[in-house]
Amino acid sequence: MTDLSEKMKGFIFNLDGVIVDTAKYHYIAWRRLADEMGVDFPPEQHENLRSLSRMESLEKILEWGGLYMTEAEKLHWADVKNNWYQGLVANMTPEEVLPGVVPFLNAVRNSGGRTALSSASRNARAVLKSTRLESYFDVILDGSAARKAKPHPECFLLAAIALHLSPSECIVFDDAVLGVQAARIGGFHIVGIGKPEHLPDAELVIPGFADCRLSDILIAVEKMSPAVTVG
Ligand code: G1P
Repeated sequence: MTDLSEKMKGFIFNLDGVIVDTAKYHYIAWRRLADEMGVDFPPEQHENLRSLSRMESLEKILEWGGLYMTEAEKLHWADVKNNWYQGLVANMTPEEVLPGVVPFLNAVRNSGGRTALSSASRNARAVLKSTRLESYFDVILDGSAARKAKPHPECFLLAAIALHLSPSECIVFDDAVLGVQAARIGGFHIVGIGKPEHLPDAELVIPGFADCRLSDILIAVEKMSPAVTVG
């Protein structure tokens, strides 16, 4: 059994792109909306929506298309996209959990660690339900929890508070630049999920949890002190 160090007890996970690949479903729904509005939205541009809230994402698409909408129209179309997305999420299954995630979560729990899911998605709980992951997290915070969007660290600070831990006792796992920035500003250890060249501010970057050992993460992270809290 991996002995968790005295220092590292909290493991805070972003959802989209870290635990499950819901980004493809968000893209399908946003792309359908963009097509309805005549806005060109190629797959590579979806990267620019990572970590943004639903309304921020819609406003970014409108900006790209040079379109104006009243607040009422934006609320309507954000709701339309959300209905399309929820239809896709409802059909998700446990097979869509990214490789190695469940064994890693089990290793954390078996070693006495505490787990939190912190996502800007207001549909996070529905995704966890469809993929049967709810029981793996001691704390679940969705997009309704934090008022300030990343790179503000509020979403991660709320998770640490709920875990009764300080940021320096926690490791954040996020796949987006804004998420890594938020974790560093908040004084957390941060493990990026993806490619090192995309997440230069992360202490450590792993491609995913497949073949990922908790002990390796702890050894690597414990050698680095968390960023100094700013602000
Ligand atoms: C919202 C955005 C989505 C983004 C997600 C996480 O999800 O719509 O594009 O990936 O936050 O930042 P929603 O609350 O609509 O489920």
